[in-house]
Amino acid sequence: MRMKLLNPSLFFFFMFFPCSRSCNSNDKTTLLKIKKSLNNPQILNSWDPKTDCCTNWTGVVCTHRRITGLTIAAGDVVGQIAEEIGDLTDLVILDWSSLSRLRGTIPRSITKLKNLVYLRFRITELSGQVPDYISELRNVTCLDLSFNRFNGSIPGSISQMQRLETIQLSHNKLTGSIPESFGSFVGKIPKLYLGNNHLSGEIPKSLSKTDFNTVILSGNNFSGDASMFFGHNKTTVTLDLSRNNFHFDLSKMKFAKSLVSLDLSHNRVFRELPSELTKLQLNQFNISFNSLCGSIPQGGLLQNFEVFEFSNNLCLCGAPLKRC
Ligand SMILES: *[C@@H]1O[C@H](CO)[C@@H](O)[C@H](O)[C@H]1NC(C)=O
Ligand SMILES: *[C@@H]1O[C@H](CO)[C@@H](O)[C@H](O)[C@H]1NC(C)=O
Ligand SMILES: *[C@@H]1O[C@H](CO)[C@@H](O)[C@H](O)[C@H]1NC(C)=O
Ligand SMILES: *[C@@H]1O[C@H](CO)[C@@H](O)[C@H](O)[C@H]1NC(C)=O
Ligand SMILES: *[C@@H]1O[C@H](CO)[C@@H](O)[C@H](O)[C@H]1NC(C)=O
Ligand SMILES: *[C@@H]1O[C@H](CO)[C@@H](O)[C@H](O)[C@H]1NC(C)=O
Repeated sequence: MRMKLLNPSLFFFFMFFPCSRSCNSNDKTTLLKIKKSLNNPQILNSWDPKTDCCTNWTGVVCTHRRITGLTIAAGDVVGQIAEEIGDLTDLVILDWSSLSRLRGTIPRSITKLKNLVYLRFRITELSGQVPDYISELRNVTCLDLSFNRFNGSIPGSISQMQRLETIQLSHNKLTGSIPESFGSFVGKIPKLYLGNNHLSGEIPKSLSKTDFNTVILSGNNFSGDASMFFGHNKTTVTLDLSRNNFHFDLSKMKFAKSLVSLDLSHNRVFRELPSELTKLQLNQFNISFNSLCGSIPQGGLLQNFEVFEFSNNLCLCGAPLKRC
């Protein structure tokens, strides 16, 4: 030790790279297990056991020598998420995306990551259920598992994640409906992205109490009523129910003043357009391919939209379509 302290090059090293930047040796061992479980892909070539994992390893972020961020992106990896990932207990950001042939499920050990705030596995081939135990991660604000092969139903326990701001589960193979419990989130009400799954059935009535900012349900097979997403009282900004099997009377809906984007295209929505639509500051609007009828209310921004955004209904008329 004495000899080392006297070594001038090491002296300079510690001057300019304080100890806090070098990597915790347990974390380093864990990262190497993760690398092995991904079959030592080319994108992790910088993960060289001879170098410091905090300064020299791609995608690794440290705080006080512990790994707090792990970003792995855009590579051909053939492998699984190592069980040992749960040993990186200081992780705040876990962000893996565009990893072809990353397969298998989300290991239970992930529940040991109590400090996790950002959890993303996007565009991979992960499969199995979205595990119920994911909700044990009570500090997570963003849960993004989009573009994978998850099947089974959406775990109702997600509503117990009190800091959640975004639920992004689009482009999977999820089945069933939205959980009843999404009518009572314990914390903030998250933005809900569930498009392009195999979800079906009726939306629980309990959701009428939930004031979502954003709801994207396009490309599923939901049926029946969708009135729980409407209402004067809400502050919803984006509502996309397109490409489902919804069947409800649009003339009875009341709209949130905040609504900016409304896509109901490709459903079985019927009756007339309420005149209240002319009062909204819409910048996106699509009601094509439904069973709507009657005259399009004139005024406001409705006439700014194109013919094809009103097309293929039963008997809609008036600008921008033909005169009634
Ligand atoms: C490790 O990172 C430091 C600081 O960025 C750099 O000076 C050094 O050359 C790197 N070592 C290797 C082996 O890449
Ligand atoms: C959330 O993280 C804080 C530290 O950032 C930690 O003290 C707390 O235990 C975590 N909450 C839960 C529910 O694990
Ligand atoms: C999910 O997919 C797996 C195969 O990947 C299958 O064994 C399992 O039965 C499926 N589960 C559900 C609920 O569809
Ligand atoms: C969609 O749901 C309806 C029942 O509401 C069912 O008859 C139909 O087969 C489903 N379509 C698909 C593609 O699953
Ligand atoms: C709107 O909100 C108010 C106060 O929060 C409540 O009293 C009223 O019942 C709500 N109306 C509807 C239609 O939900
Ligand atoms: C509305 O739906 C039609 C038919 O699917 C589509 O061609 C058009 O691009 C959509 N418009 C918008 C703004 O999404």
